[in-house]
Amino acid sequence: ATPVILDVDPGHDDALAILLARADPRLDLLAITTVAGNQTLDKCTLNARRICTVAGIDDVPVAAGASSPLVRELRTAADVHGESGLDGPAFGTPTVDVDDRSAVELMRDVLSAHHEPVTLVPTGPLTNIALLLRTFPQVRESISEIVLMGGTTGRGNTTPYTEFNMTVDPEAADVVFRSGLPVTMAGLNVTHQALATDEVLVRLRELGTPLARTCVELLTFYGTTYQEQWGLSAPPVHDPVAVARVADPSLVRCVEAPVLIERQGEHTAGATVVDFHYRTGHPDNARVAMDLEAEPFWDLMINAVHSYG
Ligand code: BDR
Ligand code: CA
Repeated sequence: ATPVILDVDPGHDDALAILLARADPRLDLLAITTVAGNQTLDKCTLNARRICTVAGIDDVPVAAGASSPLVRELRTAADVHGESGLDGPAFGTPTVDVDDRSAVELMRDVLSAHHEPVTLVPTGPLTNIALLLRTFPQVRESISEIVLMGGTTGRGNTTPYTEFNMTVDPEAADVVFRSGLPVTMAGLNVTHQALATDEVLVRLRELGTPLARTCVELLTFYGTTYQEQWGLSAPPVHDPVAVARVADPSLVRCVEAPVLIERQGEHTAGATVVDFHYRTGHPDNARVAMDLEAEPFWDLMINAVHSYG
């Protein structure tokens, strides 16, 4: 199985990313780290522990990371994920603990102890990953690739041209995209092909398990905010797409391209400038996800939820 570290800001779709990453037999989830994004760090960390508790994931260390972006003020996405960051279900007190180490310390320890290079899967702002690369540059050789959810080849969801994770911490995104490590970007152009349709909700409900019920409640809340704000009849479930790409690369078609991160723009800070036609003179530095096999993706996601019983 491919060893992975998942870096999240749960977040409804991050919650599903956790469930998929732990359940898929082709993945070996070594650690979960949290970052401020959809909500404050404390709320996102509590939410990661909540999801692990509901799913019975008690053998994966969870560590808290950065509480704010590298240089900017934190902006959250309460409009999409609610005040808790994971509005919808009623959660009890989590029994899964948080590790004593910080996110970057846990990542460093896991990376240096593991016998083969590890894939990092960030599905929030890239603050923790940038801090890891800066603080412990020696771990680079233990990272096989970075497969992230963020950015877009087209229009944005936070400003007209920028996606949320990139907008929150453009400086961190710049560090990651210029790191020289293999980077795969699963942006909005592909994650908007992963829609939690009514049919998906029916299939989840039919599983009949407590975890499936929690997922339905999560997706129902999340669907309401997407309906109200974007007029979408089914919400895009962004973050598990990055996980799915690692589990089964054939599900997500990618093309190589130069990707630059805009940091100056008055209206465009955090834009992923995807240079398909080589206008900038920069070489390829990322694989850009273009198409998702949506049906097998949902089979994967639903089977993952089912597997917890
Ligand atoms: C990204 O922003 C967050 O709200 C989601 O969790 C996802 O990671 C989509 O733009
Ligand atoms: Ca996220």
